Amino acid sequence: MPKLNENYLHVKDSYLFAEIARRVKAYEESYPEKASRIIRLGIGDVTRPLTPRAVKALQEAAASQAVAETFKGYGPEQGYGFVREAIAAYYGRNGVQVDAGDIFISDGAKSDTGNITELFARDNVILVPDPVYPVYVDTNTMDGKEVVYMDGREENHFLPMPDESVKADIIYLCSPNNPTGACYSREQLKIWVDYALRNQAVILFDAAYEAFVTEPGLPRSIYEVEGARKCAVEFGSLSKTAGFTGTRFSYTVVPGELTFCASSGEEMSLRAMWNRRQSTKFNGTPYIVQCAAAAVFTEEGMEECQENLSYYRENARLITEALARKGIPFTGGVNSPYIWFQCPGGMQSWEFFDYLLENAQVVGTPGAGFGKNGRNYFRLTAFGTHEKTAEAMRRFEELLG
Ligand code: MLT
Repeated sequence: MPKLNENYLHVKDSYLFAEIARRVKAYEESYPEKASRIIRLGIGDVTRPLTPRAVKALQEAAASQAVAETFKGYGPEQGYGFVREAIAAYYGRNGVQVDAGDIFISDGAKSDTGNITELFARDNVILVPDPVYPVYVDTNTMDGKEVVYMDGREENHFLPMPDESVKADIIYLCSPNNPTGACYSREQLKIWVDYALRNQAVILFDAAYEAFVTEPGLPRSIYEVEGARKCAVEFGSLSKTAGFTGTRFSYTVVPGELTFCASSGEEMSLRAMWNRRQSTKFNGTPYIVQCAAAAVFTEEGMEECQENLSYYRENARLITEALARKGIPFTGGVNSPYIWFQCPGGMQSWEFFDYLLENAQVVGTPGAGFGKNGRNYFRLTAFGTHEKTAEAMRRFEELLG
């Protein structure tokens, strides 16, 4: 009989968004006459199609696969040089220097933020904000690792800062934040970088929503902060930026400077370890997707993406204005596609989820799914269509009277 990884006993039966989908399906089965009215503003899944440049590159790359001379088999596990260079150039245009050789192409920030736990031993002090993207906690739990929470509350604008009495080894930060939409300033990130350098800790910085930053002066990469190359890994994604939730493309930056001592005293490089991990367990992102991604990372490609993001920003405006009219405090919606607010009437978040689904057929994400500090909060995404977002907020306001 196999001995199972019993750490799985310590994670919830289903992943947050799978649980939401299950509950919505159960509702549809119980009330089939209401099914067509349901508006989904729960999981952050995009509704705008791929941009023209991405589609053209995909089509050309697909056509090249019909020709023996241009056909591609296995690609480099780290990703093709042309797309790694395109990402380095994108960073460069934002004033940040990243070496193409430090960039590893993958199929999703979810996979990479989950898989990176393999590089770290069990007995680390792992700091995770609460509320938080559930992948960070679930993947550490599956690995038998314990996390230490740092509270994100209204008082700190959901942006926890270092507690000098805690000596962390690994720190997860996500900015602009999923789920709260809050965004660290450069000064705040500098405090985190200094803390990490003092403690020889690694920051795992999830920048999946960087393209949503609109307020001038807010950082879009942790590498905007001096010293970050010595302590931070950064995750980026085209899921939300370019509508690749179905197409799949992400990247992880592991600077060569990230070296630490093994217990034997031998120096170990995180970049070399990640390279070893990826080349052993991953055969790369499809060639045609990498071609589409390279087109996205050009100046013109990103301009097209920003048009789509403006579309979502308009939805965020519709949501935040409705909340403001109801006097409901919220964060996010400006530098982020997520809007995070207190559940009305003192309701708990799953209670409010059911109330909204049953009475307005609107689906959101209960804050409890992101941690204990989310128990009385709720998240809506700006990724719907204008029509459905406006209708959802009309029903929301009507329901709250
Ligand atoms: C979310 O809704 O939080 C995201 O879509 C989840 C993800 O990116 O995996």
